[in-house]
Amino acid sequence: MDRENGGKIIKSERGSFSGRMGYVLAVAGSAVGLGNIWRFPYLAAKYGGGMFLLAYLLLMLTFGYTLIVTETALGRMTKKSPVGAFGAFGKSLPFKLGGWVNAVIPMLIVPYYSVIGGWVAKYLFEYIKGNAQILAVDGYFSDFTLNAAGMEIWFLVFSVLVIVVILAGVEHGVEKVSKIMMPLLVILAIFVAIYSVTRPGAMEGVKYFLLPDFRHFSWMTVVAAMGQMFYSLSIAMGILYTYGSYIGKDVDIEQSTKQVEFFDTGIAMLAGLMIIPAVFAFSGGDTGTLQAGPSLMFITIPKVFASMGMGTLAGIMFFLMVFFAALTSAISLTETSVSTITDQFGLNRTAGCLLMGAIMVGLGSASALGFNVLDFVKPLGMSVLDFFDFLTNSVMMPVAALTTCVLALRVVGIKRIAEEVEVSSEFRRRKMYNFFIKYLAPVFLIIILLSSVANVVGWISL
Ligand code: PHE
Repeated sequence: MDRENGGKIIKSERGSFSGRMGYVLAVAGSAVGLGNIWRFPYLAAKYGGGMFLLAYLLLMLTFGYTLIVTETALGRMTKKSPVGAFGAFGKSLPFKLGGWVNAVIPMLIVPYYSVIGGWVAKYLFEYIKGNAQILAVDGYFSDFTLNAAGMEIWFLVFSVLVIVVILAGVEHGVEKVSKIMMPLLVILAIFVAIYSVTRPGAMEGVKYFLLPDFRHFSWMTVVAAMGQMFYSLSIAMGILYTYGSYIGKDVDIEQSTKQVEFFDTGIAMLAGLMIIPAVFAFSGGDTGTLQAGPSLMFITIPKVFASMGMGTLAGIMFFLMVFFAALTSAISLTETSVSTITDQFGLNRTAGCLLMGAIMVGLGSASALGFNVLDFVKPLGMSVLDFFDFLTNSVMMPVAALTTCVLALRVVGIKRIAEEVEVSSEFRRRKMYNFFIKYLAPVFLIIILLSSVANVVGWISL
């Protein structure tokens, strides 16, 4: 059996995801992570609430749908993950580059993802110690980020755990636990969301989050919504090629895409309802807090729990579940990266893990320390963590998505993609698909890419 990307979790099940549901759960398991719970709410708060939500939903149902179907179909057609899938259609440089752009993205995401995973671990630890009130104090989180040793240690705790799980080959076990944790997380999130939205003053926040207000529209809203869509649905980073390569010809690609989008968006919206109304109820709708960025969840959620009267229990449960969601996503990102490394460089698994571990420690430490001892390092005026987030989401993922579009349109041909989809079912949205992949996606991707780069370089201001 060829050793393609994708790692053991899915490798051991190649072609045998137990039907569609197994596949949907596996993809949803990879899709649901910090992107939904931590990233979505802070972006929605920052980029216009309901306007952001509307942009996100529209993009997901059209653009996201098109890209998921394309990547999955290409993966199933070639039975290979990105570097191999591109390589299956040509050996020249553009094909190599296309595959690699997709394959490198997880390697750049997982280091800073592990920094956030470390924050979650730290908060879990503090809740277990019974510090629910201390965590809710204004300024706690920013003080923590200034503490270099603390940031580095918690980052290392998380990333070493990821590497150890993979080296020990127990990711299966972690996946199993997380399958139990996920439904529990949903139930807890529903409770917390109800609690949040019923606090005095929270309705303003619910309106801000759910109702689009065109005064809040800016081009950045669209750019951020698109980056988030890639991130959250694990699009444009090679992952779906890999998952696609493991599904049987019986899996209805369109139907499963819809289900994954439904799960993933549902959880993101729940997280939004937990966090954004709480900003209004507990921070008086302070626009500063709405703009808090990556720290939003860590500032807001402890305040909600502290006010509940059983903050310790809620805190432990919440951060434990988020911890598992983060861990499984980090494992899936790292597995993919390790498999790319071992396949492409002919390393054994242990060497691949260690090399990936070194990349994680290097780039992740830079992200963790960028808030304190390295705070003079401001690539493009951003913190190191924000920089990696920007580089992957706003630059590399649009490029990766473009390579997929070009591969589909120019090399494979959308007719063959349609045939691949039709192996298992009728292609119900074929007309829409054709329109999006031919016209909308490439044009839109180029505009987004150029405008987000121009914005950061300072040529335009979005
Ligand atoms: N989609 C995940 C999230 O929302 C991140 C991720 C991407 C995980 C790719 C695995 C693979 O957090």
